[in-house]
Amino acid sequence: MRKVMMAGNWKMHKSNAELEEFFGAFVKEANLTKESTSRVDIMFALPYTLLANGHKIAEQHGICIASQNMDSNESGAFTGEISASMLKDIGICATLIGHSERRQYYNETDDSVAKKVAAAQKAGIQAVACVGELLDDRESGATNQVVTRQVSAFLDAIDTLDNVVIAYEPVWAIGTGKTATPEMAQEVHALIRSIVQAKFGEDAANKVQILYGGSAKPSNIDELLAQPDIDGGLVGGASLKPLDFAKMVQSGLK
Ligand code: PGA
Repeated sequence: MRKVMMAGNWKMHKSNAELEEFFGAFVKEANLTKESTSRVDIMFALPYTLLANGHKIAEQHGICIASQNMDSNESGAFTGEISASMLKDIGICATLIGHSERRQYYNETDDSVAKKVAAAQKAGIQAVACVGELLDDRESGATNQVVTRQVSAFLDAIDTLDNVVIAYEPVWAIGTGKTATPEMAQEVHALIRSIVQAKFGEDAANKVQILYGGSAKPSNIDELLAQPDIDGGLVGGASLKPLDFAKMVQSGLK
């Protein structure tokens, strides 16, 4: 049985004061105990300015604090960038890689995503590699082709799937209130698992957590999690509200 993962993506939101306020409420609402956090992986991908403080607060509850990006180089003259080892240095356990907003606004490509996934893995940081089709791709019937290309690109850059989570986020569903139906999401999740199986075998395919993202919220998370190949959520908007995200964590515990 794969463990459910509920990962929040705060994007470019919140101050340190708001972070502290959020966690105070979230921990209470989610009724977190050692037992519950051992049954569901909870992660928050925070802006860089909240990482150190977030880690300090979250660590005691067994919550993983992640960044939303990193550079693939280990160190050097790369002004404005942060490496996997620097994230590790402040206790960060994971990073999102290739989120569609990075692909869309910051020229992230399949190639740069592949390099970052390999660099994160080498440094011992969990990589949450994000893939997903645009509305045009979906409407022209190119979803499977696009997702296969995106997933294959980073799978080709690594030798094992250790410490890699995959997030399927149809771009047309992100922040739009439009969620893929559970059946639509399941179809792509099953495709992703089959790509993993072809490359790394059945054990790896059975083990890898594949998250759904795109307007996931308390009212639709149960039906998404009921799908056999959906192992959790990568949650934007709803992760900014302690009560909503707490409910989603509770769904992961059912
Ligand atoms: P959303 O964002 O839940 O607000 O649609 C998801 C994401 O971008 O990871």
